[in-house]
Amino acid sequence: MEELRLDAELAARLRRATRAVALAGAGVSKESGLGTFRGAGGLWEDRRPEELATPEAFYRTPGKVWRWYAARYATAAAAAPNSAHHALARWESLFPSFLLVTQNVDDLHQRAGSRRLVALHGTLAEAVCDTCGRRRPMGEAVAASPAEPPACGVPGGGTGCRGRFRPAVVWFGENLPAAALETASRAAAACDLLLVAGTSALVYPAAGLIETALRAGACVVEINPEPTPFSRFAHLRLAAPAGAALPALTEAIASCRSMTG
Ligand code: OAD
Repeated sequence: MEELRLDAELAARLRRATRAVALAGAGVSKESGLGTFRGAGGLWEDRRPEELATPEAFYRTPGKVWRWYAARYATAAAAAPNSAHHALARWESLFPSFLLVTQNVDDLHQRAGSRRLVALHGTLAEAVCDTCGRRRPMGEAVAASPAEPPACGVPGGGTGCRGRFRPAVVWFGENLPAAALETASRAAAACDLLLVAGTSALVYPAAGLIETALRAGACVVEINPEPTPFSRFAHLRLAAPAGAALPALTEAIASCRSMTG
């Protein structure tokens, strides 16, 4: 993407912003070779979420769900962060306060160096016991039991925990981790700049953070090749892939914030 030219009013808002938040979705990882969920070629195009991404599916067909997540984990583990993840990691040094709120479970933000981050939908990199809550690396759990979710068996309580490991992600019908949602909601309510990148903004409560930031009067920038329900409210909309648009936006912000006045 060519150098981004910002109009004077927008440049002034980006220069003054002190509390920035970014809401990221699957589109940010698209150029790392990971599929999005919705739209042509998306993970939900030829699969039904209720057969793979619900607690009921896990109890009905645990092996099928476990193997699907094991495969997604392997794909994510083999992927590398792209220029959009790297650009977002830079935002921590551009603003006095910055929080990255991601719906992605692939850990690519963390591998790109993002540290101030909440993972609203959990992580593929860990498995968690459905009974006692013990966590272990997903790679280790899959190596121990590739076809079926491994038993927990943590000692204590007589015969030990009778639970099974499941992926440490949020499924449809489940609550988001309360602390993560609370942190994200507070940040959205107090932010003066919200970046919405690579998300269809259809899944709540994540999409509600955009409404919260708009109500708070934040400047909203959207990066997405396709329009979303929030596009018409964006103060700046970059209809381009995040791998090109995010570095260009980051450069533009860095250069306008390095100016005095
Ligand atoms: P979606 O698949 O719903 O949306 C991905 C968005 O990325 C779409 O709006 C695309 O237009 C856009 N996109 C595609 N390529 C892009 C690119 N190169 N750069 C920027 N944007 C691009 O994914 P999410 O919004 O993340 O939840 O989905 C939200 C949640 O729904 C996911 O976290 C997952 C899913 O079901 C759970 O698993 C709980």
